[in-house]
Amino acid sequence: MPNLKTASPARSAPHGGPVQLFYQGKDAIRRPIVARAEGIYMWDADGRRYIDASSGPVVSNIGHGNPRVLAAMIEQAQKVAFASRTVFENEPNAKLADLITGLAGPGLERAYFVSGGSEATETAIKMARQYAGVKGEARRWKVIGRDPGYHGATLGAASVTGDPQAEKTFAPLMPVMPKVPAPFTYRLPPNHDADSYARACAGALEDTIRREGAETVLAFIMEPVGGLATGALVAPDHYYRAVREICDRHGVLLIYDEVMSGAGRTGSFLAAEHWPDGRPDLVTLAKGIAAGYTPMGAVLAPAEMVETIAESGGFLHGHTYASNPLSCAIGHAVVSEMLALDLMANAERMGAMLRARLEALKATCSILGDVRGKGLLLAIEIVANRETKVILPAKLKAVYRIIELGIERGLLLYSRRTADGKYGEWLMITPPLIVTAAQVDEIAGLIAETLQAYEGELRRAGAI
Ligand SMILES: Cc1ncc(COP(=O)(O)O)c(C=O)c1O
Repeated sequence: MPNLKTASPARSAPHGGPVQLFYQGKDAIRRPIVARAEGIYMWDADGRRYIDASSGPVVSNIGHGNPRVLAAMIEQAQKVAFASRTVFENEPNAKLADLITGLAGPGLERAYFVSGGSEATETAIKMARQYAGVKGEARRWKVIGRDPGYHGATLGAASVTGDPQAEKTFAPLMPVMPKVPAPFTYRLPPNHDADSYARACAGALEDTIRREGAETVLAFIMEPVGGLATGALVAPDHYYRAVREICDRHGVLLIYDEVMSGAGRTGSFLAAEHWPDGRPDLVTLAKGIAAGYTPMGAVLAPAEMVETIAESGGFLHGHTYASNPLSCAIGHAVVSEMLALDLMANAERMGAMLRARLEALKATCSILGDVRGKGLLLAIEIVANRETKVILPAKLKAVYRIIELGIERGLLLYSRRTADGKYGEWLMITPPLIVTAAQVDEIAGLIAETLQAYEGELRRAGAI
């Protein structure tokens, strides 16, 4: 068992120290120090092994230490790691764009590569805004988001993110964009089932567009399969079609944030493929497209939009590292590996198996309220009582305690309480897409042990 209680030696150092110093108070439990990783396992500096049941923050889609990706990384670094787009085109950029847009399909013919999900959100919003301007619709600037939702930490991305806590602190620095409710399916408002609530949420989008003035609304951004903000929320099928029709009716662009759901995680390259009548105009990607081997994000856009912007004088946006050769070569190796190992099919197969195993845990874990998601983008919702769906008291910070209990058992989980638990709390169950049936068993067994340990603590404390 790792010694989680040791005070951080870095805290007493006069300068330097790990990033956790920015997040944890002095009494916080210290995290183990990572030493190495391979496949879906990670080891700490004391040699303890952990199974990565979340791919970190849903990043490590092809697992750790992939030899072909490492070889591609070295090969490209030896040729040229960086070259500025203002002087050179680079081949890895063109190859990756070709590969990814080929997988994304018609309507998303161009790819712009950045360094992460937040930059991808910024880029998509600015692309949409500039396109509207060139097309004579300069009054369109509002980007409607969902509450809750998450699109990144930079200010533009935060302005479309539905997170009341971040809004409270950072609102003076950004225009807080309109939000519409996310179509939750588990805990519903009175007199609703999942279908009727999804219809009401789509209706709220149209009402909001009308209220704001359709001629001022630029775009609607949503995660087609939710990430942390909603715990792998999948809306009823009709919601996606309804959203597309509403956007079309009002000339509003539809942006799918596929930072978590993209790159094969839900069993198809884009989650958008599950709802062909809800095709988006723009897609953002990150995380899985480079699977943690390099910081990377992308915006996929229609050729016509990109041409229109380019012909008007060029995109008024750029980042130093955008589409750099080393990152693109790594992204290409990662996506190629995903295809060579047939990981989208594995995500579907192992996702179904893992989901069934998690569902079965309800028999022995009374605090396991809901299991949801698609492919290997799954989440479990934690409740005080499954019959009433009552949430555990916020002060218990249940999911954080469960993460600690997992670490003690060699199980790595991922969560962050959305809106301080107002909508409920959940943990992402999102192992790398290379997970095998035996590893699904191992993960399910450790989750069962961890939840039972927490349930025991709650009973002893009289909390349930
Ligand atoms: C759905 C979604 N969008 C955007 C982001 C922001 O990505 P990044 O943290 O790489 O900036 C995240 C990150 O978790 C995400 O889950």
